Amino acid sequence: MILERGPVLLENKVFYVTTPIYYPSDKLHIGHALTTTMADTLARYKKMRGYDVYFLTGSDEHGQKIQRKAQEAGVEPLTYVDRIVASFQELWRRLDIQYNDFIRTTEGRHKRVVQELFRRIYEQGDIYKSEYEGWYCTPCETFWTERQLVEGNCPDCGRPVELLREESYFFRLSKYADRLLEYIEEHPEFIQPPSRRNEMINFIKGGLEDLCVSRTTFDWGIPVPFDSRHVIYVWFDALTNYISALGYGTEDDSLFRRYWPGAVHLVGKDIVRFHTIIWPIILMAAGIELPRQVFGHGWLLVEGGKMSKSKGNVVDPMILIERYGSDAIRYFLLREMPYGNDGYYSEEALVNRINTDLANDFGNLLSRTTAMIEKFAGGYIPAPGSEESPLDRELKSLAARVPEEVDRALNNFEFAKALSSIWELINRANKYIEETAPWSLARRSENRERLNTVLYNLAEAIRQATVMCTPFMPGVPRRVWQQLGIAEKAELHAWDSLAPWGGIPAGIKIARGEPLFPRLEWQGEGAAPAVVCTKNGESDRAESSAAGKEGEELISIEEFGRIKLRVAQVLAAERVPKADKLLKLEVKLGDERRTVVAGIAKYYRPEDLVGKKVILVANLKPAKLRGIVSEGMVLAAVDGDNLALLTTDAEITDGAVVR
Ligand code: ME8
Ligand code: MG
Repeated sequence: MILERGPVLLENKVFYVTTPIYYPSDKLHIGHALTTTMADTLARYKKMRGYDVYFLTGSDEHGQKIQRKAQEAGVEPLTYVDRIVASFQELWRRLDIQYNDFIRTTEGRHKRVVQELFRRIYEQGDIYKSEYEGWYCTPCETFWTERQLVEGNCPDCGRPVELLREESYFFRLSKYADRLLEYIEEHPEFIQPPSRRNEMINFIKGGLEDLCVSRTTFDWGIPVPFDSRHVIYVWFDALTNYISALGYGTEDDSLFRRYWPGAVHLVGKDIVRFHTIIWPIILMAAGIELPRQVFGHGWLLVEGGKMSKSKGNVVDPMILIERYGSDAIRYFLLREMPYGNDGYYSEEALVNRINTDLANDFGNLLSRTTAMIEKFAGGYIPAPGSEESPLDRELKSLAARVPEEVDRALNNFEFAKALSSIWELINRANKYIEETAPWSLARRSENRERLNTVLYNLAEAIRQATVMCTPFMPGVPRRVWQQLGIAEKAELHAWDSLAPWGGIPAGIKIARGEPLFPRLEWQGEGAAPAVVCTKNGESDRAESSAAGKEGEELISIEEFGRIKLRVAQVLAAERVPKADKLLKLEVKLGDERRTVVAGIAKYYRPEDLVGKKVILVANLKPAKLRGIVSEGMVLAAVDGDNLALLTTDAEITDGAVVR
């Protein structure tokens, strides 16, 4: 097959990448954004390398969990999911995710394929009817045997399970166990990373039981085509999306023929089992080739471990994108996740990455280089001289090596390693500035040629690093190209332009611009953590901000309830030395004493405060101000230059709760 598009015509280079289809039971969090960012980066990278790429994502809309959520919200399941699915698509738009297709399992094109596949496997004898008796975890949509439970709970998520006893269709997983094992052993690349492959091998060796693939006790699903009292098990339904979206088994199956079995499924570690056991066996039973690869990444953990609504630590990617921009979020996710293992998110770590890697390393390289080209070369990229020093050679040989390293790392799903290779070049270029000291070269005219070489090499190094950053941070290149004066020269933005060294033409007029990434002040997590607590996915952000005044975000009563306000009586107050705005207060809340630092010294004399009852944010994380740990914040009303502390309208005992 020959591609119609792409930088180079390549034969048989197809790349089909998928994300899990997410449950629209709630809005997505930063962990979901991780898989999709990985998939988007791979898709963009492979496109740059001339592959025929297809990138699929979507939503998994059936099942008992969704039906219950909708019931709780008092709406039809489809009405319920429609809104949440719209928020998925909005998130992907804001995160610069360029998928080819978004499949919803409630679409007719999907349902038809699922029913056809189910019928085919039934007719061929691998689906049969029997009685199911066992346990079910609804949040995980997973069947468990008594033996598999851990202290009576779901072994995956630890939540309570429900006892099911119903007539069901069963799928003969057991029959395929040996064939699957053989396949996995003969295809070491099939399950990545190797640690997950070993886990799966052990799981299969432990024995596979036939899988229940239909339910009769609720109806939000795809009916079994020949027995409409049953709906098809949601995982059978969901996994099929990877081929239903390609039109498998339909009149127009051209996409299926073009991209299958080239699929690379990116999934989180909790659903590797479904993708490497159930899915391959469905395909085997239906006589379809297996996908090329399944990569199981780790989880993104936050303070307190896993994100969960009950812990109130669910991080909303939308807030972060608004605050820091999509490139920075993408960079953080890809840079911070260790290969195949769990990674950690904190807003402080995010701000650190932005400041160190993006603002300092990358941003400064660009701004220093453009400043020097302006100052020492009149704003035009100079032609390099004919002589080459060992420093130049070192820079160039590194630049020649990095694209190969990025390629190797990305083919291995090592996103952090790919980025750190690119940063090696960026930091080598920064060091090259120090070593060559262009400002001293500029002092003597006989160094002119050397100076030109240095400036040229810096511009080229930035161009090369930027080309390589493109799949990771698609918004960055445009701004760099503008500054380097090559916005119109698409051929210099392409991966193929990386070799040989020297793509950027001399004589180009540069255009210095804004810093690529401004440095940020870290305000402290307590300032405004990007954490949301939603109930039934209700406080969909797009909607809530539409309802609020001019970009003001509305919060739910639950969110407000997280802020604990209490009445506190001031026992003592004094100025904080060398801080003309700050007062240190000793306050009392019932039996409790606290120290609070408040920026009110310009408005209140310490002696006037003693005895006053103020309102304290009592569950604010302690913060150190001028070496004093402040355990809360007093509330005040502010209007221009006026400030007045909040107090109560009638006498009330200190410690009283404000709500
Ligand atoms: O499982 N860090 O959907 P889902 C990283 N509908 N990844 C995380 C994460 C975290 N903190 N939390 C969740 C489903 N994920 C099914 C998929 S596919 C045919 C059907 C990942 O919305 C999780 O590992 O519960 C999984 O890969 C994905 O989000 C989807 O989760
Ligand atoms: Mg899940």
